[in-house]
Amino acid sequence: MRKVKKAVFPVAGLGTRFLPATKANPKEMLPVVDKPLIQYAVEEAVAAGIKELIFVTSSSKRAIEDHFDKNYELESKLELEGKYELLKTVQDIVPKGVVCLYVRQPEALGLGHAVLCARPLVGQQPFAVILADDLIKSEGPGCLSEMVKAFSYHGGSILGVEEIPISEADKYGIVSTTSLDERISRVDAIVEKPRPEKAPSNLAVVGRYILSPVLFDLLERVEKGAGGEIQLTDAIAELLHHEQVLSYRFTGERYDCGSKLGYLQATVEFALDHPELSDAFRDYLRNVSGCDTPPIASVG
Ligand code: G1P
Repeated sequence: MRKVKKAVFPVAGLGTRFLPATKANPKEMLPVVDKPLIQYAVEEAVAAGIKELIFVTSSSKRAIEDHFDKNYELESKLELEGKYELLKTVQDIVPKGVVCLYVRQPEALGLGHAVLCARPLVGQQPFAVILADDLIKSEGPGCLSEMVKAFSYHGGSILGVEEIPISEADKYGIVSTTSLDERISRVDAIVEKPRPEKAPSNLAVVGRYILSPVLFDLLERVEKGAGGEIQLTDAIAELLHHEQVLSYRFTGERYDCGSKLGYLQATVEFALDHPELSDAFRDYLRNVSGCDTPPIASVG
């Protein structure tokens, strides 16, 4: 059976859309309720059976390495104070048997370049790429688990996609596809951030990929594309000439936590689901929205 054992997390971006919050703090460390975005991404990868987590970082992203490292001082203090639940929360950030590896992207040359920086650590095997900005709330084991399952059956490369309003096409990689079944399609073309009137469809790639290692050779050769950057999308467009690329419509809701509105929406949705907070927060939201009657479903 085909397996995906490694995931790449490109985390070297500057996060300018969240300044000043991201001046000294990586955008991937912004919390949604009580966990940083990057931890949600890591949990999704681990749930999909991935054992090697490869972070493509930069000099301003040390907080990410610290987050996934042991903190002796904190752990011994929590133990001394008998705060065992918190201690477990901290110790479980990286589950046993999972390793974190780091490689630097020396210059911000784009997502494609960031992925290429991971090549020495990935080697000749299929790998996942997760963009932590795209937070996916799922009822099941998660978007990447669904994609890994599809990959074990179909192989090739698989891109997580969802429909977007066509007016937003210039924010995404956009695919045109031929449907194979309810969730899987064959990708016929892909273009990075087209103008809405030029977009081949309204099917956008979100930050979940399972990629063939052949992509690395193509990334070496790809020229600067949209925004003057080495684009992952352009190398995938080239890959279409060599190997099968599929798209996968995942279940669950995606929040664009690279935008302030998406981040706030994610915070509200995750807080409403949080075991410690949900009741009190729901009451609070009813009060601030001026709607103090219970939701219709719970009346009578
Ligand atoms: C990147 C990719 C784009 C993809 C998007 C998903 O863009 O280049 O193809 O659709 O992530 O979030 P970015 O958001 O980094 O500009």
